[in-house]
Amino acid sequence: MKIAVCSDHGGYELKTKLMPFIEELGHEVTDFGCFSSESVDYPDFAFPMAEAVADGRFERGIAICGTGIGVSICCNKVCGVRCALCGDVLSAELTRRHNDSNVLAMGGRIIGVETAKAITRVWLSTDFEGGRHLKRIDKIAAYPRKEG
Ligand code: RB5
Repeated sequence: MKIAVCSDHGGYELKTKLMPFIEELGHEVTDFGCFSSESVDYPDFAFPMAEAVADGRFERGIAICGTGIGVSICCNKVCGVRCALCGDVLSAELTRRHNDSNVLAMGGRIIGVETAKAITRVWLSTDFEGGRHLKRIDKIAAYPRKEG
């Protein structure tokens, strides 16, 4: 798959360790920044990455900041993106099976690299179950977005 990744400074180190691992799994990775551990604002990287997933240029996205919370809030503002913040493998599996999440958020200051790799591996290889979960996804998509 074509995978877009992004981080802020709080997720930069984890992102740099995760990118070769994602490639080893057989995926193509594009980095939307940031490109150093200098302090930056996570919306500047999360929004362009999420838009690239929403418009179909990438099948999935992975967003990392210090907690994973800031990037997940940004990504979930973008129509068509279902971003799941995961800190454990079971959540990563279930969010693929039940929510068809297309962006994974993680906290670079919260989880270690081995946990992040395990989460990423499962999240990238688990299929959406469809069925009863599809109508729930459709309800999310149908909910009107207000300004702000
Ligand atoms: C940056 O210091 C930090 O606030 C950011 O990485 C993230 O944790 C925000 O949710």
